[in-house]
Amino acid sequence: MAEPLSFLHVDAEHRRVSLDARDPAFYRNPNAVYAALHARCPTFFWEEQRQWFFTGYDLVNGLLRDRRFGRQILHIASAEDLGLPEPQAHLQNFDLAERFSLLELEPPEHTRLRTLVNRAFVSRHIERLRPEIAALADRLIDGFEKDGQTELLSSFADIIPVTMIARMIGIPEEMGPQLLAWSHDYVGMYMFKRTRADELAADRATREFADYVKGLIAERRRAPQDDLLSQMIHTEHKGQFLTEEELVSTTIVLLNAGHEATVHQIGNSVRVILDSGLDPAALFRDETATETTVEETLRICAPVHIFQRWALEDVEVDGVRLKRGDKINLMLAAANLDPARFPDPLAFKPERRDGANLSFGAGIHFCIGAPLARLELNTVLPLLFRRLPGMRVAAPPRVKDVYQFHGLERLDLAW
Ligand code: HEM
Repeated sequence: MAEPLSFLHVDAEHRRVSLDARDPAFYRNPNAVYAALHARCPTFFWEEQRQWFFTGYDLVNGLLRDRRFGRQILHIASAEDLGLPEPQAHLQNFDLAERFSLLELEPPEHTRLRTLVNRAFVSRHIERLRPEIAALADRLIDGFEKDGQTELLSSFADIIPVTMIARMIGIPEEMGPQLLAWSHDYVGMYMFKRTRADELAADRATREFADYVKGLIAERRRAPQDDLLSQMIHTEHKGQFLTEEELVSTTIVLLNAGHEATVHQIGNSVRVILDSGLDPAALFRDETATETTVEETLRICAPVHIFQRWALEDVEVDGVRLKRGDKINLMLAAANLDPARFPDPLAFKPERRDGANLSFGAGIHFCIGAPLARLELNTVLPLLFRRLPGMRVAAPPRVKDVYQFHGLERLDLAW
């Protein structure tokens, strides 16, 4: 039985939950809450969010693939029809970028765009990065190895994903800090509680980001290079190419999605492994062991906890009657802890063979960057533990103060 948590209020009979997403007791250890929810109320109406949430593995997995739900609804109904707020002038740049974002489209537009991007994003581009990822990680470790200590997020985790995705797209490496800043402001839009200042920052960042990408696209049109952007510009499928707006949106989404989640996961994985007390040399003894270790860290400590869907029609799920235009929340990180799927779910067991976790989603929006993220994790984690034997946590890790993205603010290590 899960421990009772004083800040979690569950009315199991009416499937109502009250929980403050900004309460550090919750977001610092959401797994304890997920365990309690699985035990008492796995499908619930979250009073503070005024929406339904699903945590069961089979339900979340099924809903991610269920075509009665979509990431978008404006392709089948008008905003007025659905009583949605009018587009806001101060978010016009952000809205334009989202308009052609893979993440926000549904078929047939999604299929066309995803096929075109996928053709450019093939394994040739991913696999050839392996030695580059290792060389970058080695160089970073060279920089702090002799100190006997480091703060891993700033010295390592923050740098690897953005450098790799920038190189892959064809953006000069010195843009790294600027890309991080734009991306950070952009994803501020995905928080449960955001302020007008967050919105203005996101819109300004999108405008600057988009202007920069447009300049780069013009350069690549004149002089193509061996990079993803040139590929995307010149990729053709059934006589179609990506439009300028699609190219800008895709570049922005690849850069945002491409590093935030991976940065968090490098920190989360290192923390989980160190907390487990298991021997890193055994966990990373060969490629297969490394893969299962990495997957288990993704299961038990995912970086992105929730994705939403619109109900595209009136539909009943797990006894909940939803109306067309309702938004539901799929708790990927909670589904990864469903005891019906993963026995002893809160235990880190790299040897488990219980099947796939849902950290990269499922269905048509399954993470297009999963092969890259996995390659990065499978390359840098063994390298880090091999180069710094005896590595330990030097101060209590500080969790970022947002709920949906679960990552660390600081991870102080010593060896
Ligand atoms: C550990 C790292 C990562 C995690 C946990 C993650 C997670 C996810 C999840 C859960 C989705 C599905 C969203 C939904 O169903 O609504 C998604 C989609 C996506 N991800 Fe990732 N991601 C990661 C890294 C990356 C990287 C490295 C890239 C790019 C290089 C990337 C690009 C994308 C894109 C473009 C989509 C949208 C795909 C579509 O809608 O068709 N992600 N990601």
